[in-house]
Amino acid sequence: SSCPLSGLALIVLFLLRERFPYFFQDCAYMLQRLRVMIRMNKYKKSKPFYSIVDHFLDAVSRHPSKVFIHFEGRAYSYGEVDKQSNKVARALQAEVRLQEGDSVALFLANEPSFVWTWLGLAKLGCPAALLNFNIRSKSLLHCLSCCGAKVLLTCPELQDAVEEILPTLKEQGIRVFILSDSCSVPDIVPLSVKISQASNEPLSPALRSNVNIRTTAVYIYTSGTTGFPKAAIITHGRLWGASFSLFTCGVSAEDIIYVNLPLYHLAGFVVGTIGAMGRGITVILKRRFSASQFWDDCRKYNVTVVQYIGETLRFLCNTPKKDNENNHKVRIAIGNGLRSDVWSEFLNRFGDIKVREVYAATEANIVFINYTSKIGAVGRRNILHQFMFPHAFIKFDVEKEEPVRNSDGLCIKVATGETGLLVSKITQRSPFSGYAGNKQQTEKKLLRDVLKKGDLYFNTGDLLRFDEENFVYFQDRVGDTFRWKGENVATSEVADILTMAHCVLEANVYGVKVEGHEGRIGMAAITLKEGEDFDCSDTYKQVSNHLPAYARPRFIRIQPCLEFTGTFKMKKAKLVEEGFNPAHIEDQLYFLDTDKRTYVALTEEIYRAISSREIKL
Ligand SMILES: *[C@@H]1O[C@H](CO)[C@@H](O)[C@H](O)[C@H]1NC(C)=O
Ligand SMILES: *[C@@H]1O[C@H](CO)[C@@H](O)[C@H](O)[C@H]1NC(C)=O
Repeated sequence: SSCPLSGLALIVLFLLRERFPYFFQDCAYMLQRLRVMIRMNKYKKSKPFYSIVDHFLDAVSRHPSKVFIHFEGRAYSYGEVDKQSNKVARALQAEVRLQEGDSVALFLANEPSFVWTWLGLAKLGCPAALLNFNIRSKSLLHCLSCCGAKVLLTCPELQDAVEEILPTLKEQGIRVFILSDSCSVPDIVPLSVKISQASNEPLSPALRSNVNIRTTAVYIYTSGTTGFPKAAIITHGRLWGASFSLFTCGVSAEDIIYVNLPLYHLAGFVVGTIGAMGRGITVILKRRFSASQFWDDCRKYNVTVVQYIGETLRFLCNTPKKDNENNHKVRIAIGNGLRSDVWSEFLNRFGDIKVREVYAATEANIVFINYTSKIGAVGRRNILHQFMFPHAFIKFDVEKEEPVRNSDGLCIKVATGETGLLVSKITQRSPFSGYAGNKQQTEKKLLRDVLKKGDLYFNTGDLLRFDEENFVYFQDRVGDTFRWKGENVATSEVADILTMAHCVLEANVYGVKVEGHEGRIGMAAITLKEGEDFDCSDTYKQVSNHLPAYARPRFIRIQPCLEFTGTFKMKKAKLVEEGFNPAHIEDQLYFLDTDKRTYVALTEEIYRAISSREIKL
């Protein structure tokens, strides 16, 4: 008698599938998110608060000898990393009286010590500011000051950069420690001997008794639309949320994950490393991404999950073909910024790998995950998603760079298929913690009176669109930031540095597309001071001293005057479109020649060499 019923059920399921092709995937995804929500609620309510550190300690007691990190031929077990973090915490405690809540800046390379140093601090209830190891001088000082750290920890590789700012650090009473046995500079205190002599006994949880879901766990720096990098506050709640991404993407405890992204970013550190740590996953950590080592590493360590940014998968596709490239165990790739063309080629060459494209900004209170097989989409909208992350796509005026408002002063939702600004409602469940020490920048990310008078939204600054099937597609980033080599470049920061060159009067910085590259490369239109010529070497000196390589403008365009909008913003759109082809531009153009270490006139030969990739950018 159950036969006709189950037959009916099959037909219903079949019809559902026909009518709603993503029904089952949506359900599976929603169930997973629900499980995450329930777990988060449990952790939130537990007294004392069950933090990610406690989660790690549970993993340690389950399998102390399981490998946590493989790095440059050496394996570090869960137990070892735990003990090492106790030693670091104790050595630091002996040197400085760290109180729970004191922030400590980490200026470290992608090495295992990054992980246990952070863990040690977390065990003391101290938030860590994760400094980008590419930044120097003024930017570095700025980043330090916004998190209020009185202690800076660095490694031998970065000692020069610290020495450069040491006088200012001393003035500000910031103590500097280096993870090395000795140091010839008097004000940099070597810590390694002290760490190795310190006890590895567990630290009392009482040391972090005030930590809860709302306390700051780490500061992660993001390049905003204006000025220096901003310190996004990542709370323990956000840490939990982001570390669940692996789970949402289908990663399990038996997986082995390859982390080749910088640990000072949310993706490499929180999503990859901390996400792995909680579930007891083994991490293969790399100093930096290397296309030539990628698949050999994957084979050697039986890697099953890899992280990417759009550029890195493109680099893999650009490597010469090999016979054994399908021979690996990678089953999932998680990341963002992947283009459809690269995706297809990646699959063609390297086999059946599930790509999980995630849309999330470090400080944003919303995420989209591509959990279906839709090429090009960053994710899907569904009821649960709308409930967890109430959001809207609103009409945006690209020229004025502000949302379009109706006669009532409210924003207007875009129609299906139309590009709009993604804004996400700030709620208990999706809070926005803002930037440390920067009320003004925090305020700038807020949008009021969006759909109702008095409501409050987070402005992602990203333009996206969704189609009839509710797939969401990333379109562009609004305004003044562009991405190059996976890093955000804040145009006004670059402009500030350019105007430090004695010949430069004003600078308008923007990013231009280069065939065969993700993102946009830096270019600047400048005007010169009365009676000055463009000084190639001085300008080069300024940008190379003060900007990381990816932020230096590779092209300079000399203009008689800059164009401004009605609201006195520099006009960029036309310049972006005109690009850097000397055949089409009358203004004098220059190119940053990395071999000659100066700017040189951009000739048609150079232009051709760039197009044919003889010159690598
Ligand atoms: C990878 O897997 C193979 C076979 O499953 C095993 O023999 C080998 O020891 C593994 N390698 C590592 C580094 O775990
Ligand atoms: C989303 O994932 C599917 C397969 O998992 C893939 O085909 C598609 O290209 C992905 N979208 C993006 C933008 O990567």
